[in-house]
This record gives sequence, C-alpha cells and structure tokens, in this order.
Amino acid sequence: MSQTLSTLRFQQLHADDEKTMAAWLVLLAESAEDSLESPPPCPVDLVGSVRFAPPDTTLEDWVVLLDGRMVGSVRLAFPDGAPSARLDQLLVHPSARRQGIGRALYAHARGRATTRGRTSITATVVESLPGGPPRDTGPAAFAAAVGATRCTEGVGIHQWLDLRRHDPLAGGVPPVPDGYRLVTWGTITPEEYAVAVSALELSLGGASLEEAEQQVETSYARRFEKMRVGRGRRAYHTGVVHEATGKLIGYTSISKTTGNPQHALQGMTVVHTSHRGHRLGLLIKLANLHLALQHEPALRMIETTNAEGNAAMIAVNAAMGFLPRDRWVPWTSGQGQST
Ligand code: ACO
Repeated sequence: MSQTLSTLRFQQLHADDEKTMAAWLVLLAESAEDSLESPPPCPVDLVGSVRFAPPDTTLEDWVVLLDGRMVGSVRLAFPDGAPSARLDQLLVHPSARRQGIGRALYAHARGRATTRGRTSITATVVESLPGGPPRDTGPAAFAAAVGATRCTEGVGIHQWLDLRRHDPLAGGVPPVPDGYRLVTWGTITPEEYAVAVSALELSLGGASLEEAEQQVETSYARRFEKMRVGRGRRAYHTGVVHEATGKLIGYTSISKTTGNPQHALQGMTVVHTSHRGHRLGLLIKLANLHLALQHEPALRMIETTNAEGNAAMIAVNAAMGFLPRDRWVPWTSGQGQST
C-alpha cells in the first residue's frame, strides 16, 4: 500500500448515520453516468436498500475515506447458506481512481467475506455486445488485476425497451386463451396469491405447484415486498389463473423507484411449465405494461436482464421491442487466490 493509501479508513455504513449516508449519496450521484439508459440514482431507493436487504440475504455496506473525504464504497451481499459472497457494487469516485483505492476496497471485501466464512467472491462486470454500444473495459481490467477470473456460466443479457421508439401496445393486448383469466395487483400481493407467487418464483415454474407450495413455509413474496416497500418502490403485477383449477400459474412484475418517473424494471416473469406454449408469457407482459402505463404515464425506458441461455424469454422480449444492450458477466475469486 502506498504512503497515501496508508491513511485510508474503512467505515461500515448504517442507515441511521445521516451524515455518512448523505456523503455516500453524493459519492454515488457524482460517480454515476447520467444518460437516459442510466438514470441518476434514486436517494429513497438507496437509503431503503441499506435498511432492507433482499430476502434470505445479509448486506454489508462499507465506505472508505482518504484524509476524511469519502472516496469509495463497496456493498457485499451474503446469501444465507451460500459459500460465496457477492460484490453488488464496488465504486471509486472518478477523481480518486488509479491510486489503488479500488484494490484496497476489494481486499477489504475479501476480508469481510472470510470473516463471514465465505470461500469466494463473485462480482458482475458489464461488457459490450457485438454491435452494441461500447462499454468501459476498465472494470474487467480491474477485476483481472485483483485476481478474479471471468466466468463462462451465469451470463446475463441486459435489454432495454425504449417506448419512444417502439410501442409494443400499438396492436393492443392479445386476447386471453380459453381456460385462463388475468388478474392484476399492485405493490402488495393479495393474500390469495402470496404462496403461489412464492412457489412460482422459487421453482421458476418448474416443480409441481402443490409440491412447491408445500415447501414455501413463509411467503417469499411477502418478504420480497417488504424490501420493495422499504425502498419506496412501486410495483405492478399481472397474473394468470387457470380456471379449471383456480390456481395462479404465472405472473409478471414491473417495478420502479420513486425518483425516476421515466424508468422501470421488468422483473420476474414466470409461467408454470405445464401451461407453457399458449403465448401466456407475452400476453401477461403486454397486459402488465398496459397496467403500469395507466399508473405511470411518464414511463419511457424499461430495462430487464435474462440469463443468456433463456432463449424463450429473450425472444418474448424481442417481440415486445426490447433490444439487447450489454452482457453482465460474473467474475469470481477464491480466498486461496493471490491478489
Ligand atoms: N483501465 C485499465 N486497468 C484498470 C483500470 C482502467 N480504467 N482501472 C483499474 N485498472 C487495473 C490496473 O491494473 C490497476 O493497477 P495500476 O493502476 O497499477 O495499473 C488495478 O486495476 C488497480 O486499480 P485501482 O487504482 O485500485 O482501481 P481504482 O481505484 O481506479 O478503481 C474501479 C477501479 C473500481 C473499477 C473504478 O474504476 C470504478 O469505480 N469504476 C466504476 C464502477 C465499477 O466498474 N466497479 C467495478 C466492478 S468489477 C468488480 O467489482 C470486481
């Protein structure tokens, strides 16, 4: 560590420490690129994200100060029972880069992972797609420099739908096939669907619905929505009920922060395997976009990410006008590797 970096001080971030939180929000705002595709960070969402972790996950946020000035931050996620910790964000202020601060943050993160008994760390690096907009190659160079290895599995395709350029609802919402009916809800899942939503999400629609429902002891949907509400997010859902059994056999979700009226996230869409092949995925996504636009008329840009191998969902998205923008590639490093 250089002479300068010997004055680095790490401090854990706590939501009730208003002064440090305020400095962290400034750091994130000043480090963010501001384009229509990358909206400015929403302070309500960020503060809420420190208070409310995703279900079954512990978060640690750390900031680093150089001579008393906040110059970087790192968020570690520790999913319950996983051998690995996830680096959700590792950031150095643009004015403080290439001085070894990123390296020091990474070393700190690895130390925290070891303390919590994790044997590896994973992080996501954004890469450009052939023909897509260029992306900064610095993060990949940094990941390699700290000893991480690029993974070939688990790659996500990040896509954007620009409603100013393409209106997927121009032809209306397609008719609902016989034997099914659509239901809608907002941020809070109705009690009658909470267990079915949890079972569908956790099994990705693959298991027997009864079996999956029995395994859901407490509702994952309820715990997920607690985080969402804590982050000030609003959500719109459209589900599909199989009329013969009365069961919810699929649903889709759009959510958004309070701070960015033009932007939303297309989240989970799942249709149970035994009901696939009826174009229900496209139907509920279109119906849900229609629902969201009724409540959020300023919406222009919708982003989503799917596993690279999920050709079916990427095709549904393409039919709606989503365009692939970049690849989200996992990198990993084990505790035994040198940095
Ligand atoms: N181009 C090429 N190599 C780079 C770059 C770059 N832009 N940035 C870092 N490196 C490599 C170099 O080998 C560097 O050593 P050197 O300066 O002696 O040549 C080494 O990484 C360590 O660099 P640091 O000075 O410790 O890194 P820095 O403090 O500049 O932070 C970071 C790097 C975190 C990537 C910063 O640019 C940033 O905040 N970017 C935006 C957010 C981001 O992309 N986060 C990283 C995601 S990947 C991950 O977490 C593993």
